[in-house]
Amino acid sequence: MAIPPSLFTDIISNLDATGQIKEDGGWRRVVVEKPFGEDAQSARQLEQVLHTDFDESQIFRIDHYLGKETVQNVLVFRFANLMLEPLWNRNYIDHVQITHAESRGVKGRAGYYDQTGALRDMIQSHLLQMLTLVAMEPPAQMDAESLRDEKVKVLKSIRPVTGDLINTHAFRAQYGEGQRGDQLLSAYTKEQGVAAGSKTETYASLKLHIDNWRWRNIPFYLRTGKRMAENSSMVSIRFKHPPQQLFQNTDIGALQPNWILLGIQPNQCMRMELQVKEPGMEMRSETTRMDASSCHINTPDMGAYEYLLLDVMENDHSLFLRYDEIRLAWELVDPIVEHWQSSEDSVAIYPSGSWGPSEESTLFERPDQYWRNSLE
Ligand code: BG6
Repeated sequence: MAIPPSLFTDIISNLDATGQIKEDGGWRRVVVEKPFGEDAQSARQLEQVLHTDFDESQIFRIDHYLGKETVQNVLVFRFANLMLEPLWNRNYIDHVQITHAESRGVKGRAGYYDQTGALRDMIQSHLLQMLTLVAMEPPAQMDAESLRDEKVKVLKSIRPVTGDLINTHAFRAQYGEGQRGDQLLSAYTKEQGVAAGSKTETYASLKLHIDNWRWRNIPFYLRTGKRMAENSSMVSIRFKHPPQQLFQNTDIGALQPNWILLGIQPNQCMRMELQVKEPGMEMRSETTRMDASSCHINTPDMGAYEYLLLDVMENDHSLFLRYDEIRLAWELVDPIVEHWQSSEDSVAIYPSGSWGPSEESTLFERPDQYWRNSLE
């Protein structure tokens, strides 16, 4: 059901009336595309509608991001390797970034998008799902319920962003005019179907804290934007500095920190950045990159939906959302959406084709924290 939410009730009751839901001698499953509601309340209503005719075992709430190769790889990377686990926590990680940048605008989808905005379109669903995979504890088993239990525990541990925190932990902006090469790009408010004077955000970023034993006080920065400089989706994990700056009095000076970069698209690449000595007489360091071999081969890009629809046929719910995940994600973003909708403040404008608004640097906790835009 990749349909406008207003049609759900009619379609489901008509499927039922025409006998298409009853499982006699086969199976009937419903795949529900996002947005699953537009806030916690409408999501609850939709859930009730689904459950009037379907059992939970027949419902597949899809988030196509979970069908992406690197997103699934996060689980393997984390839980099939021992060497990362001791480092994967607040003692060694400085912060985590999750970025989804798109070079395209909203052309053709303004009717939906202008009512929705970047926070609800991307962060409530795809980016928070990514965050749960990066932050979750190892599940008891790899079955659907164990996996989803761990993701829910992460969502429950996120410190709410409400009241005064909204201004320091959430940021929104909209694309203005800009240029890419010779091409002039128009402002969001000039796109066909966008309401005059619309304040809908086409860029949103959040700073989140997960108040649990593993992550307390480690910021997770999430951002997404349309009409950005490039298409780039990635998870960037920055490590802390070594406890002693042993090279401070040499030409090396202050060391660059280690990073692990997990490219989601366009490059499905895992990269580790380490410091090594530059060859030569002087004591200088340089950043070297250890790339997974997949960075240099063209991995076949089986579409995310194909993966997931195959899982539907095989009745595997692991990569589909449980309602409690969706509810918790809405409960996190709802106060921010409400605040933005009622705020008189103007929305920051970033030039189309850029990496976003410059005002936003206040989100970071220290001057040496900055966005990693692409794998380069
Ligand atoms: C969709 C959003 O869910 O995901 C779109 O509604 C967004 O606005 C898209 O462009 C991004 O997914 P992908 O797979 O095209 O990067």
